Amino acid sequence: MFRPLSLSATKLRRPLSSLLCRSLSTPPTPAYFITTPIFYVNAAPHLGHLYTALLADAQSRYRSLAGHEAFLSTGTDEHGVKVERAAAVAGLDNGTFCDRVSAEYSSLFDLCSVGYDDFVRTTEARHAETVTRLWQRLDAAGYLRKNSYKGWYCVADETFLTESQIDVKEIDGGKKLRVSTESGHPVEWQEEENYVFRIGDFRERLIDWLNKSKVVFPKLFNSSLSSALSEMNFQEVLSVSRPRSRQSWGIPVPGDPSQVVYVWLDALANYLTVSEEVNNVRRNKRVSWPGDVHVIGKDILKFHAIYWPAFLMAADLELPKNIFVHSHWLVDGRKMSKSSGNVVDPRLLVDRFSGDGLRYILLREGVPHSDGNYSEQKMINYLNSELANTLGNLLGRCTSKTVNTSSSCPAYSDEAMQKYCSHEGLEIMSSLEELSSEVASHYERFEYYKGVDLIMEVLRNTNSYIQNEKPWELRKNASEKIRLDVVLYVALESLRISGLLLQPIVPKLSGNLLDKLSVKSRMWNDAVPSKSSLERPLSDTKAVFFKRITA
Ligand code: MSP
Repeated sequence: MFRPLSLSATKLRRPLSSLLCRSLSTPPTPAYFITTPIFYVNAAPHLGHLYTALLADAQSRYRSLAGHEAFLSTGTDEHGVKVERAAAVAGLDNGTFCDRVSAEYSSLFDLCSVGYDDFVRTTEARHAETVTRLWQRLDAAGYLRKNSYKGWYCVADETFLTESQIDVKEIDGGKKLRVSTESGHPVEWQEEENYVFRIGDFRERLIDWLNKSKVVFPKLFNSSLSSALSEMNFQEVLSVSRPRSRQSWGIPVPGDPSQVVYVWLDALANYLTVSEEVNNVRRNKRVSWPGDVHVIGKDILKFHAIYWPAFLMAADLELPKNIFVHSHWLVDGRKMSKSSGNVVDPRLLVDRFSGDGLRYILLREGVPHSDGNYSEQKMINYLNSELANTLGNLLGRCTSKTVNTSSSCPAYSDEAMQKYCSHEGLEIMSSLEELSSEVASHYERFEYYKGVDLIMEVLRNTNSYIQNEKPWELRKNASEKIRLDVVLYVALESLRISGLLLQPIVPKLSGNLLDKLSVKSRMWNDAVPSKSSLERPLSDTKAVFFKRITA
């Protein structure tokens, strides 16, 4: 029997800290809290996983530069049948197997400068505590019930599916195989005792919340949610545990050790684990629930925009403020995935292109909006034409002794600009005035590729300006010294501002560029033309920005 959520339960709305009963001793302003999904450890990370993490990392870097302390959480999702089976295939016990693959994720993230503030593993004791308390809260509010459950279970997606979510596929010898319509993965019939959660109770509130708070973006992903919610009925229940006999690797259901908590309830709770833990001890940053933005791929939208808010509503906790959804990387038109066996190993690409090279390639593509085919040649073209040529050559030209004899960034002079700056140069200066706010508006919406496009356009214009002004000839004539300084001022400002704005995309490369230009202040609001009347000496380190990749 369910108890309806009583008035006293509704009044329970309290910060998460009270759910977890820990003391708070925290620095003042809460950080901008960004999360990645936590990654299954059934196999090594592939390019698609890294992509999710990079989108989130670039946001965290951008927010910090813009003056809002940010906090990025990531981690690994380690329980469930899928992981259990993978450990058995590897001939390892579950714990050792999880340690190994989880470390592959953290070391890949380190290689690619994913600057996470917390890395949570669902096998950690702190996380089991959160899950236990969340479960108890759902139970106390009357939303859980034990009953017998029949249905198709998809191990690859760790989810039960209804008949309408299943297709029948013919395989070798005319044998029929049932698969998930959405992911194409096989399903297994299960009849078992488990706990169910009364998700149907939240249908109306979910519709209302999704419509009113515009939490999911880009907008195009809303239609799949609307249809999923319109198909949901009020009686609908969601299985939230599995018998230990079927899945031994998991967090025990409080008070019923014959059952373990369903992996998605377990996994989603990581966002609470992280905010609580951090509130207390980590990095002296304060993170409070609700999170500012969950970054997720479109395949896990239902879990984040339906299941997760329903659990939170039932537990009387606040709902996430934003959910950013991205599309997928494909190989030959198919989603890159471990189970399809078409994965691209990001570590090999780091060896070839460097961590920042790989970041650039991935963040430069418009995959947020539509699936993108991975093509190595296209990636190499970007690196060579934009990082090596447009940016690298410009830096080389403007800092080389043959052009910039005094090895400095000239001081700004109003008079000199008026007298000697060509129309083309003035146009560049005026686009630099606007550039940081235009790029910010794209970065804020995770549309990094649009921001990078704008930066590259200014850099290309600067290259053509240099080409037309020919500073290598100006420097031969002492009477052209002021004009030469104006040309160098414009070009070096264009480089400085671009370097500042590229920090979220390629942190190491921009760091090198800004070091070469001796730039000390590197915040977002420094990315406007400087009117400094002081000349700035350049560093004497060698400026190779990015080496061309040979095919
Ligand atoms: N463990 C769950 C998430 C739990 S979060 C509470 C999971 N893990 S996953 O390892 O399968 O996927 C993690 C992320 O990688 C998801 O955002 C998913 O969309 C993303 N990607 C997996 N394959 C991808 C591509 N081919 N392309 C882009 N991103 C993809 O789901």
